[in-house]
Amino acid sequence: MWHPFADMSVVAGHDFVIASGHGAHVKGADGRTYLDATAALWYCNVGHGRVEIADAAAAQMRAIASYSSFGDFATQPTLDLADRLAALSGLAGAKVFFTSGGSDAVDTALKMISRYWALLGEPKRTRIIARHRSYHGMHVAGTSLGGISANRDGHGEPDPKIQNVTWDDAEVLALEIDAIGAENVAAFFCEPVIGAGGVYPPPDGYLTRVRDICKERGVLLVADEVISGYGRTGSMFASQRWDMQPDLILTAKGLTSGYLPMGAVLVSGRVAEPFWNTPGLIWRHGYTYSGHATAAVVANVNLDIIEREQLVERVDELAPVLSAALNPLATHSHVEAVRTVGLLGAVQLRPDVIKEDPAIGARLVRAARDRGVLTRLLADGGLQVSPPFVVTREDLHSMGRVFDEALGSVGSTRVKPDQLHVDLLPDTTTDESGGFDSSDARLRADVPPHHGT
Ligand SMILES: Cc1ncc(COP(=O)(O)O)c(C=O)c1O
Repeated sequence: MWHPFADMSVVAGHDFVIASGHGAHVKGADGRTYLDATAALWYCNVGHGRVEIADAAAAQMRAIASYSSFGDFATQPTLDLADRLAALSGLAGAKVFFTSGGSDAVDTALKMISRYWALLGEPKRTRIIARHRSYHGMHVAGTSLGGISANRDGHGEPDPKIQNVTWDDAEVLALEIDAIGAENVAAFFCEPVIGAGGVYPPPDGYLTRVRDICKERGVLLVADEVISGYGRTGSMFASQRWDMQPDLILTAKGLTSGYLPMGAVLVSGRVAEPFWNTPGLIWRHGYTYSGHATAAVVANVNLDIIEREQLVERVDELAPVLSAALNPLATHSHVEAVRTVGLLGAVQLRPDVIKEDPAIGARLVRAARDRGVLTRLLADGGLQVSPPFVVTREDLHSMGRVFDEALGSVGSTRVKPDQLHVDLLPDTTTDESGGFDSSDARLRADVPPHHGT
């Protein structure tokens, strides 16, 4: 097996095999249990081992696993899911275009946008702007769109129609659009919270200013919510939390919690209009698995669980616990910063430490794994934190303690040891669960959440 994003000269023959999972934990083929600090690749939001999802998928497969969505074909679960996502999106007159995953959603949006402007008689609007540090999947266009240069290296010149602007200054976006000429700019792509680029929450006021800049100039605003969608920041969509009012929302990952692969582009009625109301127009775009019936069933049950167990609210309640567990690590000599928002976080190593010892990040990840916590290094040297929403308060604190020990094991020292000790070892005699029952029973689909008890 050729692993994605891997140094195969090291990984070949050393696959780390995961055998099973339950809630926020997974079991390796080595027989050990690990805390899944990243929900696999930011996706297993409802936690592992949901029998309810497996049963629903099996039942659908027995009826019919899937059928084409091209032309007028459809299956009922896919129609139901489209209606549900349109309602959740908050977009006026929303339509839903299904894909196989996030990179497909990015590609679909780019093609939809160029066709939209052509249909509106503005074919000069071809230029696309995205942000430094951003990640928009690994298809050819998404590789150009993303602002992580390491992901482009060795693939020739990026698409000249696409350019990146600084990630944290909306006025620079305005200047760039005006320099290009707004009449030439098709869209601005924006992760509300930068994810794979290092978990950077938006600066105060940034997203509303971006919204206004795009509206004033007629530029379409695309919220790439492949990570943030379906609750990760404590709102169903991060674009709602920050009142972004995008024209398109790109989603995948948490749509199914990864139980099956699926993506969805949520499109405002305004953008869909010329596609839907031009007689004779066939938009020749779509994927074999667009609207896969079993994936749609999985997504519907996944959303049922999120609603029934109030998992988005739970993210909001756990957000301060995550910061309390991670913030003390900022006092470590090797740590540049700790950033958190919702159930997302990064513990960022200092760039000079990485420069001096490029393998330190890999050793740190390994040290955490040896101590029972699975994480990975993000593009700019941050440890990824994005646990399943069913993680407990005690899990989050023990993750903080493990990161503390792992940092110590790679030579980092605590600048203020006493303070760190106090913060990393909370008094577990008080009710650390804050009303959440962390027992296995809580994860069974038939057991309601124990809010406010
Ligand atoms: C913001 C964002 N967009 C797009 C993608 C691509 O999604 P996929 O890997 O499902 O193709 C990702 C994946 O991490 C992502 O984080």
